[in-house]
Amino acid sequence: MSPVAAERGAAGAAPVGEPAAAERAPRLPRTPLGFCLRYMRVYLGFVLAMIVFEAGQSVCSIMLPYAIKRIMDAVAAAQAAGGAVWPLVEQPLWLFAGLNLGIVLCSRASGALLVILGPELRRRVRRELFVYLQHHSQRYFMSNFAGALANRLAEVAQSVAHTLWTVLFDFWPLAISFVVSLVLLAGVSTDLALVLGGWVAAYVSISYLLALRCRRYARDYAAARSLVSGKIVDSVSNVMNAKLFARREHERRYLDGYLDLEVARARETFWFMERIRWFQFLAAMLLMLGIIGYALAIWSTGGMSAGAFAMAASLALLLIEQARGLSRRFLEFFEYIGNINDGVTMIVRPHEVVDAAGAVPLVVTRGEVGFEHVSFAYTPERPVFEGLSLSFRAGERVGLVGYSGSGKSTLVNLMLRLFEPQAGRILVDGQDIAGVTQESLRAAIAMIPQDPMLFHRTLMENIRYGRLDASDDEVIEAARRAHAHDFIMATEQGYASLVGERGVKLSGGQRQRIALARAILKRAPILLLDEATSALDSVTEREIQHSLEFLMRDRTVVVIAHRLSTLAHLDRIVVFHEGRVIEDGSHDELLARDGHYAHMWHMQAGGFLPESEAGERQARALAG
Ligand SMILES: Nc1ncnc2c1ncn2[C@@H]1O[C@H](COP(=O)(O)OP(=O)(O)OP(=O)(O)O)[C@@H](O)[C@H]1O
Ligand SMILES: [Mg+2]
Repeated sequence: MSPVAAERGAAGAAPVGEPAAAERAPRLPRTPLGFCLRYMRVYLGFVLAMIVFEAGQSVCSIMLPYAIKRIMDAVAAAQAAGGAVWPLVEQPLWLFAGLNLGIVLCSRASGALLVILGPELRRRVRRELFVYLQHHSQRYFMSNFAGALANRLAEVAQSVAHTLWTVLFDFWPLAISFVVSLVLLAGVSTDLALVLGGWVAAYVSISYLLALRCRRYARDYAAARSLVSGKIVDSVSNVMNAKLFARREHERRYLDGYLDLEVARARETFWFMERIRWFQFLAAMLLMLGIIGYALAIWSTGGMSAGAFAMAASLALLLIEQARGLSRRFLEFFEYIGNINDGVTMIVRPHEVVDAAGAVPLVVTRGEVGFEHVSFAYTPERPVFEGLSLSFRAGERVGLVGYSGSGKSTLVNLMLRLFEPQAGRILVDGQDIAGVTQESLRAAIAMIPQDPMLFHRTLMENIRYGRLDASDDEVIEAARRAHAHDFIMATEQGYASLVGERGVKLSGGQRQRIALARAILKRAPILLLDEATSALDSVTEREIQHSLEFLMRDRTVVVIAHRLSTLAHLDRIVVFHEGRVIEDGSHDELLARDGHYAHMWHMQAGGFLPESEAGERQARALAG
């Protein structure tokens, strides 16, 4: 059994733990309508119940004028007959009371459902989008900003809920009110019903068209608003520049230009909305005059009762009240749909790096890594590797050297399958990494990146990220080994201190040591160090060296460093140049060969590589 397998104890050749979190990405629809329907389907029971209660409330409200008509007709009949009023009005009064009770019960039942469903719906949308987002590739996250993505998640969740509410609480009750009013009016006069029907058809279509036209203004206004926010963010984050160059006045004037633009756009939008309101008020007036005038004419010829006249008038009033904001609601509806569309287009794209069908967990027994004829380019016109073949033996400690930009970090990214090669294979213990689950691959590799990021969580949590079930003592032990314990204890709250967004409250070297402690906890069979100690002074680096020795024991290790003294003691050194291996051997062999490496070794003033060949020439010129 290899040392690695031995250390992993009884688990031996068992798959390197597939973390429980290997939740599959949900299949999400890519159109706004499909997206909303998905969640309506999930909560179908709730939605149907709300449809029923809203319909109930709406029917009860619009029936009130009808109950009043019945009461008035009963009173008139009793007066005409000269008898007692109560027996005749009793039934209509019960109807009136029943309708009022119906409004209260239906509206509150629907309100209760909203309280239960609303937050749950938003949570579900946001969580599913988050899980979907987690499966996106490194490339995706490099071209989409974290803040923008987080906003989108919240916005889509909010918009899905609001779309649903607009349909359930605005459009649907209004449709019911229209239909019930038409039926009630048709009961007293077909002509009146026709007048109302014509008005409704015209009003809804014109409102819709106006909302469509207003959309352009609303969009421009929203764009202007976010432009201003963007400019303010940019200016605030560059406040240092503004101070250093005494340019605060310039910044104010610069912002004023954009604020003026926002004002202009806002006025355009609001003027258009004002025109919509003109239409609404005029339409309401027409309906009022039309219905009342017409009903009056019918009444005066004895064609309807006083009660029926009162009903027609109050129906018109109620409808006008309900229909008043229709254009604005259409406009908001478009806005929600637009938000969902933007969010879905940004987030619900096909995933770039996915587990192959039937992917199995990686089984690491020895820790051998092989690159076979690997070709890779971030962008097609600039290949990084072309047919690269390279292998690292089990338990071997390899240093990678090369000028900045020669492809060292890229090699490591490919091993972690953060990017996929366009050709060739990468094998770990004979298994093509394209055929194993990504979670198991990354669980088998501990990586300390060039610029480690930390969560805005406590130091304890940040280190424990390497192994979630590690005890406090184990975390502290790892921190000691990484020479992080002392500076952690010197912070105000020790291990409970927060480190600021992405770890900004720590120095570069402190962040690296936290990352090192985390990697120590992880105990993965393959270890990748990408400039893991570059930000440390040589004294601290030397102190850490023996912890690193401990960490590297019985593991396959790849160390990238510009400071060659960091690599000299490793088993093997591979020299990269423009994506090709140009030298490969131990430190002594390479020195003896007197090639590229030997040259760099001798050039290295104070243990650092020159930044580029130009820098090297310059250094040589200075030295010579
Ligand atoms: N995400 C990316 N998108 C496009 N090109 C990239 C990306 N990352 C790196 N590159 C390019 O790929 C090449 C190799 O970069 P890589 O980061 O592997 O270099 P490196 O050897 O690690 O350099 P350094 O020593 O500076 O860390 C460079 O030309 C770089 O500009
Ligand atoms: Mg790099």
